[in-house]
Amino acid sequence: MYSVKTQTFTLDPNNPDPAVIAQAAERLRADGLVAFPTETVYGLGANALSPVAVGRIFEVKKRPFYDPLIVHLARLSQIEQVARDVPPLAYELAQIYWPGPLTLVLKKSPQVAANVSAGLETVAVRMPNHRIPLALVETSGLPIAAPSANLFTRPSPTSARHVLEDLNGHVDVILDGGDCPIGLESTILDLTASPPTVLRHGGLALDLLRQQIPDLQIARRYVKEDEGLPISAPGMLVKHYSPKSPLLLFTGQTDAALPRLRDLASVLAKQGYRVSVMTTTEDARHFTDLNLEIADLGSATDLPQIGRRLFDQMRRLDALRVDVILVRAPAQEGLGLTIWDRLFRAAEGQVFDLDMPLDVEEIAQLLESRKSA
Ligand code: TXA
Ligand code: MG
Repeated sequence: MYSVKTQTFTLDPNNPDPAVIAQAAERLRADGLVAFPTETVYGLGANALSPVAVGRIFEVKKRPFYDPLIVHLARLSQIEQVARDVPPLAYELAQIYWPGPLTLVLKKSPQVAANVSAGLETVAVRMPNHRIPLALVETSGLPIAAPSANLFTRPSPTSARHVLEDLNGHVDVILDGGDCPIGLESTILDLTASPPTVLRHGGLALDLLRQQIPDLQIARRYVKEDEGLPISAPGMLVKHYSPKSPLLLFTGQTDAALPRLRDLASVLAKQGYRVSVMTTTEDARHFTDLNLEIADLGSATDLPQIGRRLFDQMRRLDALRVDVILVRAPAQEGLGLTIWDRLFRAAEGQVFDLDMPLDVEEIAQLLESRKSA
């Protein structure tokens, strides 16, 4: 295992100290690992041209070798260094959405280390809308391969503290630029597919992309590990963004929905479960008189805020070692689709409908089986 003494530097996200950036860039050139904030989540960066450096990312994250990484750029002209036969649509989208939370899958240039792309012929690239990684790419002169800076299957990190929790002693430098302004990973668009296909919902809402790509496709997203399908787009694994505590996801809009969820919470609490509810501020009042741990995500009318808080709340509840996290999904529109996607994966693809009576016995059994898994 790649082991080092981790150094943390606090930086102004709008005006990072060039001396600190230069030091971090030096680590990257020496095949070290540098974690940094982006507008989406914190990334764990390495020189994308060095198979040794990239190998260290997989090692310290415990990431399966078949799950490829995203390459981060600071200038549009760098596309030619990492990709080939770049279609005009890529430039058109980059002009509009870069820097920003849109990752494009293109044909890979041979310069990029093969393990970045997990042996695929394609490469995922994006230009983050954050001064720290932009300065790091500029100063090092390197394209930077960076997955989210969390351990595999843990919620993505949205603060430097989260990175330290997962990777202390296994990353050379953590650049602390405060909380990530979006808090959800980038939207991934495959431009080698025809028509262009969304591989992962993310920080850029699809209604925007449809303006440039009317025939936009959305990939079948969810594959369970035991389905035995070839994993061509690895981000499709259902179990991916999971808190350690089992998370149960609920839909339902009728007047009966919240009282049903409240009843379930109360029954489980009486059975001795340490119950938590992750909820909008509006829904929270249905639960305040029960003895529960309440994780307030913010107003239902402020989806960006829910997005910013989601992973941090998952980690907070994990740290409290709650036995179960109950969540009623917010509306599945715009950024709500991305939030739904992360909750759905955390729930391992299982959803309960609160517009129908709940089978509490079935749910208790499910909890027991998740606990022993
Ligand atoms: O917002 C983000 O995208 C963050 C920040 C750090 O940039 N990064 C991130 O990386 O979320 P990661 O490694 O957690 O997710 C990268 C995902 C992979 O799981 C895979 O689904 C997809 O990107 N990916 C990467 N290269 C690909 C390729 N060549 N073809 C298809 N999918 C690819
Ligand atoms: Mg990730």
